[in-house]
Order: sequence, then C-alpha cells, then structure tokens
Amino acid sequence: MKGIVLAGGNGSRLQPVTLVSSKQLAPVYDKPMVYYPLSVLMLAGIDDVLIIARPAEIESFRRLFGDGSRLGMRIDYAAQEEPRGIADAFRVGAGHIEGESCALILGDNLFHGAKLPALLRGSARTLRGCVLFGHQVAEPEHFGVAEIDTKGQLVSIEEKPKHPRSNLAIPGLYFFDHTVSDVAQGLRPSARGELEITDVLRAYMEEGRADLVWLGRGVTWLDAGTHESLLDAGRFVRDAQHRQGTRIGCVEEVAMYMGFITPEACHELGAGMGSSPYGQYVMESAREYRLAPSLANFMEE
Ligand code: DAU
Repeated sequence: MKGIVLAGGNGSRLQPVTLVSSKQLAPVYDKPMVYYPLSVLMLAGIDDVLIIARPAEIESFRRLFGDGSRLGMRIDYAAQEEPRGIADAFRVGAGHIEGESCALILGDNLFHGAKLPALLRGSARTLRGCVLFGHQVAEPEHFGVAEIDTKGQLVSIEEKPKHPRSNLAIPGLYFFDHTVSDVAQGLRPSARGELEITDVLRAYMEEGRADLVWLGRGVTWLDAGTHESLLDAGRFVRDAQHRQGTRIGCVEEVAMYMGFITPEACHELGAGMGSSPYGQYVMESAREYRLAPSLANFMEE
C-alpha cells in the first residue's frame, strides 16, 4: 500500500505563521507537525510515501526527510500549484499510486492511542473499497460528517453540513483501493470550488464499498489548523509524553519498531540530534529496543 501526506494549502487561518513557511512544518511541541501524520502511515506498515506541498515549500520537506532512506523508507515529493481540494491529492499523486491501494492523511491531523496501530493494520488488511474513520465531536459542522444506521452501515456523508445528521466527524485519514485515482478523475469541483474528499467517499459508499471504522475512546484525534488548535495539540503532546515517558510521532522510533531500520541506525539518527532531549530520547529508545525488543509497547494488537 502507498501513502500520501497532503501538506499543501495556504494555511491562511494560521497567518502570519504560514507567510513564509508551511503550516505542516510548524512545531507541535517538540517536532514538526508533519512527523505526526507521517508516523501514522508508518504504523500502518507503509514505507512508500508521497508528500504533497506548495511548490515553494517542497525543498523544506526534502531537507527534512531526503529520499526517506534514513528512515528505511521511500519518500517522494510533488507540488500542488493551487489548493484545489483534498481529493486533488489523487490527481497530483496518480503517478505515485500507480494502480495500488493508498492511504491518505492530512498533514495537520494528529492521532494517538494504544489501539491505533492495530486499527490501522486491520483497516489496510480488510480493505474492500475504502475505509473512513468516525470520531464523535461536539461541533460536527466543521468537518465531514458520517451518518450510520443501527447496524453501523453508512447512510450519508456530507462536507461541513449546516445541519449535521450526526455528531460523527470524519477525520483526515482514509484508506482506498487501487481505483481511487479513477474515482478522483471523475470529480467536479463543489459549490465552494474544491475537489471534495467527501465526494470520493460518497462514490464508494454508493457502490456499497465504503466501511466506517469507529475510532472510539482509545484514540485521540486532533487537527491543528488554527492558532487555538495548534496550541491545544502542543499541550496535548507535551502532557501525554510527560505522563507516559514515551514520545508521540517520533518517526525514528517508529521506523525502528516497524523494522524499517535497525536499532543501530536509529541510535545514529538520535546521535545526530544528541544535544536535544528529542535526540536523546531516540538514542535511549534504540538502546532499550536492543535490550528488550518485545517491549515495543505501541505495537500491541
Ligand atoms: O480534519 C478533518 C477534515 O479535513 C475532514 O473532516 C473534512 O471532511 C475535510 O474536508 C477536511 O476539512 P478542513 O476544513 O480541515 O480542510 P482544509 O481545507 O483545512 O484542509 C486540510 C488540510 O489539507 C490542510 O492541512 C491543508 C491541506 N490541503 C487542503 C486543500 C483544500 C492541501 O494540501 N491542499 C488542498 O487543496
């Protein structure tokens, strides 16, 4: 399965932070925002990822991750000239997907929870069309919204409805089969002029090939698109990390636990940042893994 991190857009709600840099490179506590969505794809077992960004920011992302080989991955980059909508990712990324299944994650979405790795791998394994996730929220009108019947079957999918039919928001993480680029080719811009991800999801739903997976209480989902939510996300990460003694979205550690790189390579990556607490953590987790690989706590089924 291929992966796409969509990290473009104008970030207008975060100006002036985003005037000369990408929102998805802004720090969420101790690491750039894009580490969080990238690590989610990695936890799903994906090691071939396309990062889509504004043309002016491609080089910054490339400086951060290179060709991905340091993380035992392949990472490519593609420019989205204009923010034409989330579903545009499948047009910009058509060459990357190349007829394979694909997971798409929005570059400003953070997920965390012990149940997450198993949920992700289960969704990738049982994919029969598309998988979207559902998360209960207080203000669903700000998101894509899913409605399900008593059997958990999808009944409707709407983008930011004025009068939501449920409080089940659809987070920015989706799994699609190999037909997604074809579905995206057939899309027309919505009334607000965007290629909507919810139109892609609805196309699968109408064919009876869309499954909704409930994220439940075991998984926290945050999106960091405004000043308030960015600060909230930073506080959440700091508090969770301090409480648990482990780091969220640490791509070097995830690469090691997923078997993409050796503990030695992980230690070396940490040593390269050794004067920061983050670098020291990466080195320490490599040392711990060498001593007790079975204690990979976030890989539990
Ligand atoms: O966060 C989850 C929500 O994300 C979903 O519930 C909605 O269905 C989905 O439309 C989306 O809503 P947002 O209002 O958060 O979308 P936004 O326009 O803010 O874009 C989300 C991210 O995708 C943001 O980091 C910028 C990036 N993006 C967006 C567009 C429209 C691009 O890279 N290119 C684009 O063309």
